[in-house]
Amino acid sequence: MRTLIKGGTIVNADSMGPADVLVEGEEIALIGKDLDVPADKVIDAGGKWVIPGGIDPHTHMELPFGGTFAKDTFETGTRAAAFGGTTTIIDFAVQPRGGTFHQGLDTWHEKADGKACIDYGFHCIVSDMRDELLPEMDQLVEEGVTTFKLFTAYPGVFLSDDGAIFKALRQTATNGGMILMHAENGPVIDVVAADLVAAGTTDPIGHGLARYPVFEGEATNRVIRLAQAAGAPVYFVHMSARDALAEVRQARDEGWPIYAETCPQYLFLSLDDMGHGFEGAKFVCSPPLRTPDHAVELWKGLAVNDLQLVGTDHCPFDFHGQKEMGRGDFRKIPNGLPGVEERLDLLHDGGVVSGKISPMRFVEITSTAAARLFGLPQKGVIAAGKDADIVVYDPNRKHVLSASTHHMAVDYSCYEGRTVQGGADVVLSRGTTIVEGGEWLGRAGHGRFLRRERRGFSPITPSRVEERVPALVG
Ligand code: URP
Ligand code: ZN
Ligand code: ZN
Repeated sequence: MRTLIKGGTIVNADSMGPADVLVEGEEIALIGKDLDVPADKVIDAGGKWVIPGGIDPHTHMELPFGGTFAKDTFETGTRAAAFGGTTTIIDFAVQPRGGTFHQGLDTWHEKADGKACIDYGFHCIVSDMRDELLPEMDQLVEEGVTTFKLFTAYPGVFLSDDGAIFKALRQTATNGGMILMHAENGPVIDVVAADLVAAGTTDPIGHGLARYPVFEGEATNRVIRLAQAAGAPVYFVHMSARDALAEVRQARDEGWPIYAETCPQYLFLSLDDMGHGFEGAKFVCSPPLRTPDHAVELWKGLAVNDLQLVGTDHCPFDFHGQKEMGRGDFRKIPNGLPGVEERLDLLHDGGVVSGKISPMRFVEITSTAAARLFGLPQKGVIAAGKDADIVVYDPNRKHVLSASTHHMAVDYSCYEGRTVQGGADVVLSRGTTIVEGGEWLGRAGHGRFLRRERRGFSPITPSRVEERVPALVG
């Protein structure tokens, strides 16, 4: 099958300009001006961008959490992702407490195999960092699961103590893997949350009030220091607080290999959304939504590469029946928000259209940086020989985000009624057109498991001050 994408503007992280793209089989075969070659299918990309498919490095399909399961399956969640222009996800396989990492991975392979509509990799969630499991981390890195998420939050569920975190960091210093951290001081948060409930604050807003920004800043600082002592890089997931970003910025300025992502909810929503009585449960996630001044700093961080990328932390629970489990006690509301479908359009509208980031930086933070940091050399760029994961993106099309039109299997949208500019018109996954003009053409089982390369396949150099060039291009 040969597909010719004609007349578009190719936007990569490091360049943009007009060119045609010829796809042959699963890969990009040729890029050139006014290509005149035979093809089975021609896509008119006039007036549109041709961008690498989005890579969402942070999703939770069917995550067991808070006594229930995240609603999207690998089938519904990856289909929704594709509608939003994302062609790769990296999901989190959970080690059962008392069990091995491979047991968690086996469970996640069963969930995804034959069901995923786009390509996927796995990180491993470490629930229980026992010493005898340290060599298993090396095996996982060999098997293409190169990243391990540990938590300073969620006591009794996922929390690891500092010694365990240090040992895991030390292991990745030598095996080429990387630790991902959920950095909030969980035990202290639990004290404040109990005080709030005792004083009668049981509504969802209590979730946001209990999790002070400084608790994220403190945990981020602590983990950076542990990583420095271990000689390991570290990546902070779902960063929400300016306090935490300040720690990352300082460490990067000093030259340490410290990385961080933020999520659309921390850029576009705020603590106010958690008010309004129990409706606020729709916005309960951890870390929580912050006051708008935090978002201002996060946008700055994205523009100058203090933050390397945006993942969604997609973890959808229905309002009815699932979020409602926490009526009368905000601590029982399952934590997590839907968002895998909306990431590109929100960032295009709120980032590019509003002039905060350039089109190339948009591609970098939605695709290219994740390919580089997470060992996916075939992804994240429009170039000959790379996987033909391609989005024909209309930067002018306006549409309204709503639960009545989205494809995620969840009964609300965090962005209900919001108009955004920009949308994926055609989506190719390894050369196959899976979305065109709002129609689903893909299939469950098309997606393949991606064995990821270890850190160093393309060197992750320690950041330098001069690397932090302003990404804002006229
Ligand atoms: O609230 C969240 N973030 N739920 C998903 C689990 C996690 O910590 O990423
Ligand atoms: Zn987390
Ligand atoms: Zn998460």
